[in-house]
Amino acid sequence: MQKSLIASAVALSLLTACSPQPADTTAAVKTDVAAIWPKLDIAVKADPAVEAKVDAIMANMTLEQKIAQMIQPEIRDISVDDMRTYGFGSYLNGGGAFPGNNKHATPQDWIALAEELYQASIDDSVDGSTIPTMWGTDAVHGHNNVIGATLFPHNIGLGAANNPELMEKIAHTTAKEVMATGIDWVFAPTVAVVQDDRWGRTYESYSENPAIVREYAAAVVRGLQGHADGDFLSDQRVISTVKHFIGDGGTVGGDDQGDNIATEQQLFDIHAQGYVGGLSAGAQSVMASFNSWHGDKLHGHKYLLTDVLKERMGFDGFVVGDWNGHGQVKGCSNQSCPESINAGLDIFMVPGDWKALYHNTLAQVQDGTIPMSRIDDAVRRILRVKVRAGLFDKPSPAQRPLAGKQSLIGHPEHRAIAQQAVRESLVLLKNNAQTLPLSASAKVLVAGDGADNIGKQSGGWTITWQGTNNTNEDFPGGSSIFAGIKSQVEQGGGSVELSVDGSYTDKPDVAIVVFGEEPYAEGHGDRETLEYQRGEKTDLALLKKLQAEGIKVVSVFLSGRPMWVNPELNASDAFVAAWLPGSEGAAVADVLFGQADFKGTLPFSWPATPTQIVNMGDKDYAPLLPIGFGLTYTAPSTLSNALSEDNLEGETAQKAVDILTGTVQKPWEIWLYSGAERLSVNANTHSIGALKYRTIDKEIQEDARKLSFAGGEQAGIRFASKSFFREDLSALLTAQSALTFNVNVQSPISGPVLLGMNCEGEGDAAGSCDAKLDISATLAALPANSWQSYSIDLKCFAQNGIDLKRLVVPFDLSSQQPLEIGLADIRLIPGEAANATMQCQN
Ligand code: BGC
Ligand code: BGC
Repeated sequence: MQKSLIASAVALSLLTACSPQPADTTAAVKTDVAAIWPKLDIAVKADPAVEAKVDAIMANMTLEQKIAQMIQPEIRDISVDDMRTYGFGSYLNGGGAFPGNNKHATPQDWIALAEELYQASIDDSVDGSTIPTMWGTDAVHGHNNVIGATLFPHNIGLGAANNPELMEKIAHTTAKEVMATGIDWVFAPTVAVVQDDRWGRTYESYSENPAIVREYAAAVVRGLQGHADGDFLSDQRVISTVKHFIGDGGTVGGDDQGDNIATEQQLFDIHAQGYVGGLSAGAQSVMASFNSWHGDKLHGHKYLLTDVLKERMGFDGFVVGDWNGHGQVKGCSNQSCPESINAGLDIFMVPGDWKALYHNTLAQVQDGTIPMSRIDDAVRRILRVKVRAGLFDKPSPAQRPLAGKQSLIGHPEHRAIAQQAVRESLVLLKNNAQTLPLSASAKVLVAGDGADNIGKQSGGWTITWQGTNNTNEDFPGGSSIFAGIKSQVEQGGGSVELSVDGSYTDKPDVAIVVFGEEPYAEGHGDRETLEYQRGEKTDLALLKKLQAEGIKVVSVFLSGRPMWVNPELNASDAFVAAWLPGSEGAAVADVLFGQADFKGTLPFSWPATPTQIVNMGDKDYAPLLPIGFGLTYTAPSTLSNALSEDNLEGETAQKAVDILTGTVQKPWEIWLYSGAERLSVNANTHSIGALKYRTIDKEIQEDARKLSFAGGEQAGIRFASKSFFREDLSALLTAQSALTFNVNVQSPISGPVLLGMNCEGEGDAAGSCDAKLDISATLAALPANSWQSYSIDLKCFAQNGIDLKRLVVPFDLSSQQPLEIGLADIRLIPGEAANATMQCQN
């Protein structure tokens, strides 16, 4: 966040950057669809035999059975009996969801769950349906939820390799490991063409170059599903999904789930190219995106989902929603969203709220809100894909040829393909005096916290959703970067010492320092600038220390995006962008030590400043290094050792962060809770347990909020970030800031009033980070029944355990006693700490 603060500047640069024509602010007004969108030549053709089979199945289906086909719950939220009762058309496991919640589940455990749910789906004893269900998973860089699976480099590294044949092999290999666990369907490839690398999903993108994404999308779809005229969806293949439709890589400010304001022509030229490639190759599903286009959420976008994608481009598979994405459409909630279906969504991805959504959807068809023709179209599409995939003919998951084959998971041949990908993905940015390749008979020091850290080198979507909390033991069969260096040096007669902090006993000839970004996924990875280590530059200090000691420094940089690393480049003799190589880290050493020359080239332009948003084709294209750049051993290194180290902090100086200023500011949302109940505020008045909430007037209409606590149980109001994404507000702490707001105390204070902050969100694996301070005494001292300003030094929260680098809730006010209180103008203001009502010791 805070990106919103500089969002308008970015919006401008985006528009001037990628549009040959002047910005068209009326882009949301659609043109004639045929003028921009082509009819695609799709490899998988309509087949009368398939349609006849679908007709026959549908002829006997009840409305309930049809709705069930459109509901996709998550394994953590359903039982086998739920499947028997409802007969869901599909289900998923989210990132970091395993059978029995066991991270170490074996392929047999996965198969057992697939088999049970499949058998329940074809058991007609309760729902009368025998239609097989199907299981979808995020195998986005290999079968990444499964311990021991081959983990390929994340897409950004594969883009650097620029090798479509290799991509097809990787995808086929992934399909086989997925089939070994009984899963039918993969939510990949991501075909975002990222235009602002501050986006947390940049590493899921192959390139800023639409042509690479188009070609790769086709290769991956063929690798996953097989060729349309070959072993299409055979028992060695899985259904693929091109995602997220459309424009996810082009939101203003690189905001995850944000707004794309490209013109319709840009939408096609840049963001649609992966669909042109993937759909032409026969992808059977498309995932709708969380983002909006000119303010309208894609999950409710009839024009783009139906007119463009289905009718014009000719896609005849199904559109699946993203994780509760329908709930973000105006007028919808996770439990109810006829708008999405009417717009063209065919399957709701609704992890937990499936029961309410199922019943509401049913009622909305019965009362005519959703036309029956739309339901029939959605179900026809789902069944068409199931017939094409042979789900009615294939044996049950446990009986399929690859089922439960432990040997396929992380098979040596699969790892060899991943190792090739690692070698080809490395991009050499700097190589003074041909520092690389290194001699394997040298005395080598290996430093940095990424050197012997398979979790860090694998990034997000690795065993867990965020990719955090993994140790090397979680990667049986995998290898760290250090392991590869060690084996090269040992074979070459040199010596090697591993020392994270760069200390040594025996002075080395060369130091290889492996460092970079910590794992993240989705909005948790959104950043305000591209500066690496925007606070304390501990890795730079390490590089400088080694150089000062007269040791040659080779930097191996792990990151999910290009970053501004000028100081780190200056402090390196050679610098390798290694992206996120995955489980086969040892292959990095093959290239460092001369077994294979560098081959990778930049899939994204490398920024010249922390705030530069730069893409190929920009009018004044001036990155530090252009897309396509990449040295080989013998190429002359052109980077200076004195690149500008000005991080332009002045331009990005800390500004106030608004939370509630009349309206709730982005990215915050209001939640109310009482005891274990909670609700997301979407109206002017709410009542939940012991708490009543309403908007009131302070200066202008409805600019303040009134809370009435009845007492009895702990109830409160909480401002949390959108989707509970972590926000880095640590710069506010350095800027001596205070949390400030206006209060109007309208009843006696009869007990503790807690003001809290919190760093936990849903899916946050990073552990507890929660502080609640009792402010009742200071509140009681304020004059009653009038608006008073109140502020509290941010340090008070930091000292009580809040990590402002990953804040989720900046304001949480609660009480267990009766209390009437007004609230307004909630902000975090730099420089206010010294004047705060509530101070803390230093
Ligand atoms: C992501 C998708 C993913 C889905 C299921 C969402 O949050 O945006 O890419 O496929 O979750 O895990
Ligand atoms: C799931 C992910 C999903 C995310 C969306 C997590 O709990 O495991 O798959 O993408 O939530 O917010």
